[in-house]
Amino acid sequence: CYAMAPSEQQASYPHALVLPFPAQGHIIPALQLANKLLSQGIRTTFICAQHRINLIPTTLRFTGRVVALPDKVDLEKEKVDAGVQSLCRSADTVEDMRDSFQQLLNSDQFSDSRIFLISDFLLPWTADIAIKINIPRYVFFPSSATALSVSMYLPSLMAQIHIPLRSSDLHQCSTFIHVPGLPKLLAPSDLPSAFREDCPAESRNTCVKSCLLLREASAIVVNSFSELERPCFRALQNDQRLNSNQTKIYSVGPLLQLDYINCPEFNSEEREHHPVEEPSYTKWLDTQSSASVLYISFGSIAQLSVHQIHEIAHGLEKSTHPFLWVIRQPENCSESTAAYSLLPDGFQIRTKGRGFITFTWAPQLLILSHPSTGGFFTHCGWNSILESICRGIPVLALPQFGEQDLNCRVVVDELQIGVEVEKGEDGVAGREEIERAVRLVMGEKGAELRKKASEWMDAARMASVGSSAANFKSLCNKITSYAY
Ligand code: UDX
Repeated sequence: CYAMAPSEQQASYPHALVLPFPAQGHIIPALQLANKLLSQGIRTTFICAQHRINLIPTTLRFTGRVVALPDKVDLEKEKVDAGVQSLCRSADTVEDMRDSFQQLLNSDQFSDSRIFLISDFLLPWTADIAIKINIPRYVFFPSSATALSVSMYLPSLMAQIHIPLRSSDLHQCSTFIHVPGLPKLLAPSDLPSAFREDCPAESRNTCVKSCLLLREASAIVVNSFSELERPCFRALQNDQRLNSNQTKIYSVGPLLQLDYINCPEFNSEEREHHPVEEPSYTKWLDTQSSASVLYISFGSIAQLSVHQIHEIAHGLEKSTHPFLWVIRQPENCSESTAAYSLLPDGFQIRTKGRGFITFTWAPQLLILSHPSTGGFFTHCGWNSILESICRGIPVLALPQFGEQDLNCRVVVDELQIGVEVEKGEDGVAGREEIERAVRLVMGEKGAELRKKASEWMDAARMASVGSSAANFKSLCNKITSYAY
């Protein structure tokens, strides 16, 4: 047989450069994907905006090489923490990333291997670079297959409705949109917020370009599993057969820490790696009764208005259920005393003993794993949804931006593990509505929702060793077969 010289042999090794969008909800699952590639013996380098590197939760370990892309964010000056980040800042960072990434590729650091990109859906410039230097680009799609379908079928949506959506279109009760594979028609308000008129044009253009580039990718890797969104995956597969580029879609989710998917409780080693404040959460949860606590968190980006925070507080107070609430500290308010003043006067005294409030990054996986946690009031970020599913926890859905309205439809209409918290015309969910939803999920409807959620939890566990494991294997085969 033909024996390659060592240098020739090395140069033919596939080497994945994994590039997430610089936001926690994108970095966390991308790092899990990088870990999985590494575990299959695929050389993998994780490339991340510099200011984000130190904000990666310490529980997420990666034994491969990490490259920090210099950016101009000054952590000290801007007081960025893992939970405070504006999308505007991300957009600036992305600009910096592009330049630094170009320079990195121009250096001879990767000349000993055959590089290819696995880059976030929202980094369309990586497609330009891949074309320029003639390497494959795999798209990493960190959200639901439902959101992927809407993104892939954007041209057909544009034929049905005017994009950007005008505010008057959002409340058009008679307009419904058909997207292949989605069991129900969508309302204009379900579409991603980037398609709306009030989204800055630059962000919208990036999002539209990202959608249009999906079909150009060598493959798309989705953080979902086929059983969870079956009709959607089926339609995407049929589309792939008909499409000239035949971009294959690999559902490999849920991309969570493996121990988290398979262990009934997060193991003690993981607990030790959590920040010092962790015991206070578990200590408090230990004092509550089984499945009685509502965990409230709106992810790493969304910042609620003071009005919305007040309505939640009043709704919680009236509901009389115990709660653990993570409040994103507004960017211009760093002292905890100022943060507490966001709450209605006397709220903490009136809810003393049944409420635990924090303004810092919380160990969400641990909290969801605690037997006292019985419900999750969430913005429907896809990672949060998958984490809730993997612990069999029902949700109260209050989507904020991005594709979260679509994820809400999945949770409420398809999976039937949650209740939507309806907003008023001003976009704020009122206290009565919140009280109603809390009482429903934590009370009368709780058992039914929990039963469904635990069925999906079993399905997620099965998928992690079944369909998603098989898809991941075939993705790795594609990567190593040079059939780019
Ligand atoms: C964003 C989008 O909102 C989401 O819809 C998209 O799919 C990914 O990017 P984000 O808003 O941060 O993400 O929400 P989410 O997807 O839920 O991700 C947040 C992650 O941070 C989760 O893994 C969650 O466990 C973790 N987290 C968040 C914490 O561990 N502690 C916190 O205090 C907050």
